[in-house]
Amino acid sequence: MKNDRTLQIKNKYEIQITKADSLKELPDFNKLGFGQFFSDYMFVAEFEQGKGWYDFKIKPYAPFQMDPAASVLHYGQALFEGLKAFKRPNGEVVIFRPEFNALRFKQGAERLCMVPPPEDLFVQAIHELVNLENRWIPKDKGSALYIRPTLIGTEGFLGVRPSRKYLFFVILSPVGAYYSSGFKPVKIWVEEEFVRAAPGGLGQTKAAANYVASLKAAELAKINGYSQVLWLDVTHKYVEEVGTMNVFFVVGNKILTPLLDDTILPGGVRSCAIQLLKDWGYEVVEKKVSLAELQDAYDKGLLTEAFGTGTAAVITSIGDLSFTNKKWLFNENEYGPIAKRLYEEITAIQSGTKVDKYNWIHLVSNSNSTTSIGLGL
Ligand code: COI
Repeated sequence: MKNDRTLQIKNKYEIQITKADSLKELPDFNKLGFGQFFSDYMFVAEFEQGKGWYDFKIKPYAPFQMDPAASVLHYGQALFEGLKAFKRPNGEVVIFRPEFNALRFKQGAERLCMVPPPEDLFVQAIHELVNLENRWIPKDKGSALYIRPTLIGTEGFLGVRPSRKYLFFVILSPVGAYYSSGFKPVKIWVEEEFVRAAPGGLGQTKAAANYVASLKAAELAKINGYSQVLWLDVTHKYVEEVGTMNVFFVVGNKILTPLLDDTILPGGVRSCAIQLLKDWGYEVVEKKVSLAELQDAYDKGLLTEAFGTGTAAVITSIGDLSFTNKKWLFNENEYGPIAKRLYEEITAIQSGTKVDKYNWIHLVSNSNSTTSIGLGL
């Protein structure tokens, strides 16, 4: 490795940049799938009690060395985020709502007794890394550079208490559609046995623990041909979320979505969808949504569409919701009209073909700026 340089950010943070000896070959951007390829560089920063956050670095993507007693390995102090950068047809590079993710990360860290990086460091670190990794951002509609900021407890200590040392890192992965069905509705299994999150637990955070809790049910669903499961609350009466997506139901002229409580992740695309739907004149009702009322609406022909929202999934139409003894089918395996309109609108704002009147877009670089923070990397 060579050519260490430093980058001053707003006279506040100094990022040390280490150039890689060689760069990776880019993958075929038409066959990306989700989360299979990683860019050349990553951002890392460390925290130690009494010292604060220190050693901000952009360096070649590589494995970490870690104390085998690190708290993340034993007591699961791990939290992550997911957001996306886009390369617009005019060459601009933008990130979708990084400030939203910075705030949610901070709130999640507090729930897990972890120390989050300052919100402006979270955003700036991502900004600089994405700017450096311009060549990894796919341009085609439906593809993006997925950004995965992560916080882990690294202190080697076996007592059960919060770690006094943390590592914050950001890695980047060029991605296509999250579900292998592509732009086709997904089949979802309604999970009537396992539960993702309990009241008073971690469900409203992006704790790694929530995802391991989801694996068993998701694996069983996949064996049976379903993409994911729809989680219910602990009483198995109310709908919660799809684990990688928040969920919406079109019932008559209303659009229902579960009210956020401490068992549901407050999704960024969820709030965008609610905003857009309201602006289009729909009545969006955030409330506890029971299976009984959905069944009643389905039987009466009033439940006409179901869809999920998420960073990875964007807007994904649900074509089939299956229970142990029954099935609800929607839109003959085509995207429902409201899901399609939302997908088109959000992707148009991301790609710049529609005006960003909501201030969701964070500009990284315009078509004329250098792709390398001007450091000759
Ligand atoms: C995201 O949409 O960013 C998610 O977190 C889903 C991910 C776990 C694949």
